[in-house]
Amino acid sequence: MRLLVPLAMPASSSETSYKNTKFSQTTITELMIPSYSNFGGKIHGGVLLSLMDKVAYVCAAKHAGNYCVTASIDTVDFLQPVEVGELVSLMASVNYVGKTSLVVGIRVISENIKTNEIKHTNTSYFTMVAKDESNNLVQVPGLILESQDDVRRFIEARKRKQIKQNHRKEAEQIKVPDDYDLCRQLLAGERCYIPVREI
Ligand SMILES: CC(C)(COP(=O)(O)OP(=O)(O)OC[C@H]1O[C@@H](n2cnc3c(N)ncnc32)[C@H](O)[C@@H]1OP(=O)(O)O)[C@@H](O)C(=O)NCCC(=O)NCCS
Repeated sequence: MRLLVPLAMPASSSETSYKNTKFSQTTITELMIPSYSNFGGKIHGGVLLSLMDKVAYVCAAKHAGNYCVTASIDTVDFLQPVEVGELVSLMASVNYVGKTSLVVGIRVISENIKTNEIKHTNTSYFTMVAKDESNNLVQVPGLILESQDDVRRFIEARKRKQIKQNHRKEAEQIKVPDDYDLCRQLLAGERCYIPVREI
């Protein structure tokens, strides 16, 4: 048996409260009804996004003890289509806390009721920010990391946050000059066509 020793003690226990991940872990299960489907008979990605936002909110607000808003959503890659009649379950857990923000990891699975076959449709990460009734940002409780998975998720989420911040800085440098000839050069080899412009 492995004993988990505290990784870091709170700087000051009176500074903020701490909650474990179990306190706010949330699962929503929903039956996929025909009105959720697209022309191809599969479930709309937007339906799943809406459910993910809902479960992220519940999980975040429970941890924060406050109203939360969605600040950003990390990549959502739908790995497999979801069919009408399947049961979709979304399992949400707080992975990381900053000062006023927290990251909720969501694992989405879909179950065929007849065969009990379960498929993993996606895992995504929502950054939620806590606010009070006056719309001011508020500090969220710290996180007690009780298991190795809690520790791994926290470190991975922090790494993702750093990568995202770097990426944002790089993305700010994307500016296309208003230079027709340069644009033509930049688009060489792409499957697009610029009709001759009158200057
Ligand atoms: C997200 C929002 C609260 C950020 O407000 P802000 O005044 O820019 O706040 P700050 O820059 O001080 O950031 C506050 C926290 O949010 C985090 N944050 C802000 N924008 C973020 C983003 N795009 N992605 C991830 N985290 C973000 C910051 O890292 C910070 O975290 P920390 O306190 O844990 O360090 C604000 O832009 C907002 O209210 N947006 C609208 C949200 C909303 O309505 N969502 C629903 C969409 S319909």
